[in-house]
Amino acid sequence: MWNAGLYERYGKERSKPSVDLAARLRDKEFQRILDVGCGSGMSTLPLVLSWENAEIIGIDRSAEMLKKAEEMLPAVTFLQRDCREPIFDLGTFDLIFSNAFIQWLPNQEEFIKNAFAMLNEGGVFAAQIPLFGEMPANACITEAEKQFARCLEGIEEEKFVLHSAREYYDMLSAFAGETEMWITDYFHEMDSPENILEFLRGTALLPYTRRLNEEEQAVFMQKVQKNLEAEYPRRANGKVLFPFKRLFLIGRK
Ligand SMILES: C[S@@+](CC[C@H](N)C(=O)[O-])C[C@H]1O[C@@H](n2cnc3c(N)ncnc32)[C@H](O)[C@@H]1O
Repeated sequence: MWNAGLYERYGKERSKPSVDLAARLRDKEFQRILDVGCGSGMSTLPLVLSWENAEIIGIDRSAEMLKKAEEMLPAVTFLQRDCREPIFDLGTFDLIFSNAFIQWLPNQEEFIKNAFAMLNEGGVFAAQIPLFGEMPANACITEAEKQFARCLEGIEEEKFVLHSAREYYDMLSAFAGETEMWITDYFHEMDSPENILEFLRGTALLPYTRRLNEEEQAVFMQKVQKNLEAEYPRRANGKVLFPFKRLFLIGRK
């Protein structure tokens, strides 16, 4: 389902949160680090740059994304794993890091619980989760979906599962002695509303492209595009601002 080329087209925008999250932890020492849902390695890169002597393992379900990661970071161990299943065999870690990944899991509470079980004492769990449900772009998609209810039957299983910041706090604080959470709005500057659609095609729209045939996709995307144009009008300089809301979680065991 993942298309590394399409995903990385907005690499500059997508890599900012993992760089910021790693920067928040820079004063800490980690020997063994796991990047869960590492994708094409964009979130692994700031880990390599920040903790150059650590052993770093990246895991992801997509062979295509992992291939890109291996090409970029040959010194890192990348493994193909589905995180809906337990990953205890990977051993224990000082940092479990995850950027823009947890929302793809149906069982997030269990995943966080298992991640803490895999942390050494004093270890850190650090994650960034897009609060996409709170963004107008999400409504632009769900509104367009109504017209396609029959073709999209069962799509909920493939979509992001997004909880509120308060719910993530409950999941985190159940296992963390100390927590730190914050939300950042990244104001991405786009040349046109088409860029927002293209950005979303790399992630949130993936379940739709899988289910709709070419003809249906064309109509669906046109509708989403029209909704995006209404929600994200051009600014005085002709650019389009695309604020992206992201939640950051840090918990120390
Ligand atoms: C939005 S990308 C984030 C990639 C990377 N962390 C980054 O910051 O660029 C989400 C990644 O989660 C992976 N993923 C989704 N479901 C997964 C699962 N059940 N197990 C492992 N990886 C999964 C996808 O293959 C994809 O590479």
